[in-house]
Amino acid sequence: MDRQPHGRLDELLRDPYPHYERARHTGGLTHVAELDAWMVARDTDVREVLRRPEDFSSANALRPDVLPSPAALAVLGRGFGGRPVVVTADGALHQRLRTPIVRGLSPARVTAVLPYAAERAAALVDSFAADGSVEFMSAYAHRLPGEVIGRIVGIDPADVPAVVHGGHRAEELLFRPLKEAEQVAAAEDVVAMQQLLDRYAQRRHAEPREDLCSELVASVLPPGAAELTLEERHELVAHLQNLLLAGHLTTTALLGTTVLHLLRHPDQWALLCAEPERIPAAVEEAARYDSALQGFRRVTTRPVTLAGTELPAGAALFVAFGGANRDPERHPRPDAFDITRAPGRHLAFGLGAHGCPGSKLAREQLRITLEELTRRLPGLRLAEDDPVVMRPTMIHRSPYRLRLTW
Ligand code: HEM
Repeated sequence: MDRQPHGRLDELLRDPYPHYERARHTGGLTHVAELDAWMVARDTDVREVLRRPEDFSSANALRPDVLPSPAALAVLGRGFGGRPVVVTADGALHQRLRTPIVRGLSPARVTAVLPYAAERAAALVDSFAADGSVEFMSAYAHRLPGEVIGRIVGIDPADVPAVVHGGHRAEELLFRPLKEAEQVAAAEDVVAMQQLLDRYAQRRHAEPREDLCSELVASVLPPGAAELTLEERHELVAHLQNLLLAGHLTTTALLGTTVLHLLRHPDQWALLCAEPERIPAAVEEAARYDSALQGFRRVTTRPVTLAGTELPAGAALFVAFGGANRDPERHPRPDAFDITRAPGRHLAFGLGAHGCPGSKLAREQLRITLEELTRRLPGLRLAEDDPVVMRPTMIHRSPYRLRLTW
């Protein structure tokens, strides 16, 4: 929560891999001061934590790196949300919150949205294909995932940019050390998004449609019953905000890193263009090699021993999916990006009770994107005059900008 150590924390966030390697080599668990948590970076240890949600609670999964200033908190006080969401809930509450999301993202629902996703992907590529160069993050990666999850949730396309913007601002506010005035401005944008989502919740309660927003609302209060209470509106906005952010920020990040690593390995890009049937394997390798969600926190509910380290109740852990995915015990030559490697079970989408319910949707968007790019722009390469800088974050690892030419 302290703003001072951000320099050292940023260094770790920009390149966490040496830290994981050290933690894997050191006996037991390593306490990392910058993260204020015990680092869990071996594949077997990460799996053990994820399989024991009763001992390792998700209550702190999304603990912010920064506590907003009183002025920003005052602005946030005018918004909605601040209630437990699926990713931070445990036990029966977690089940109640997760059930409608799993139903809403079922394989059949995802299959039904694919024609729309393919049409939007093609239209976005159309918008720059004749230009010879593009900044891929703003022209594509920031756009497709919001449009697709917006379609599933039932957000009007005209409102999608405000939802996507609000999501980025919420992340900045809670995870970046912003100046006071910027914090207040970010909080205003977050509140505007929450008010928009509240209007959706109320409208879908009054007139349900065939969309996930209506289902989430109905899971809290059946349609036609009395008006939503203020408490129910807070719960629904928190739920919707979490689902939308989980749906677009992560996928945006993986789109960026996937294209980045393929183009940093031109031989593998050429192979993919020649043999596009390798696209699903390339998506898995990109997700493993530079995981969008590097890790989430957990907190022990009782004294436990993990990897030989005794932890008291209330101990904070950083569960590094990105570290497990580079563990040589599970993935031979883990630091090599290799789309031809034999499939291995990575943890980029988590595992167990909190395992990602949107993984199919994310994978399909990656597949559609690579099909478009390999077919239409096989001459893609990274622009040499715009060095890639990674965003300092554990939760949506991606380049800030990705300038491509062809
Ligand atoms: C590349 C894209 C994505 C990655 C890398 C990713 C990764 C993950 C991971 C690692 C978790 C587990 C968190 C934990 O154990 O605490 C998770 C949970 C979750 N993901 Fe994803 N995800 C992606 C895309 C999506 C999409 C497209 C959606 C929705 C449309 C989504 C919705 C969720 C939700 C709601 C949870 C919380 C589940 C729970 O706590 O029970 N994700 N995701």
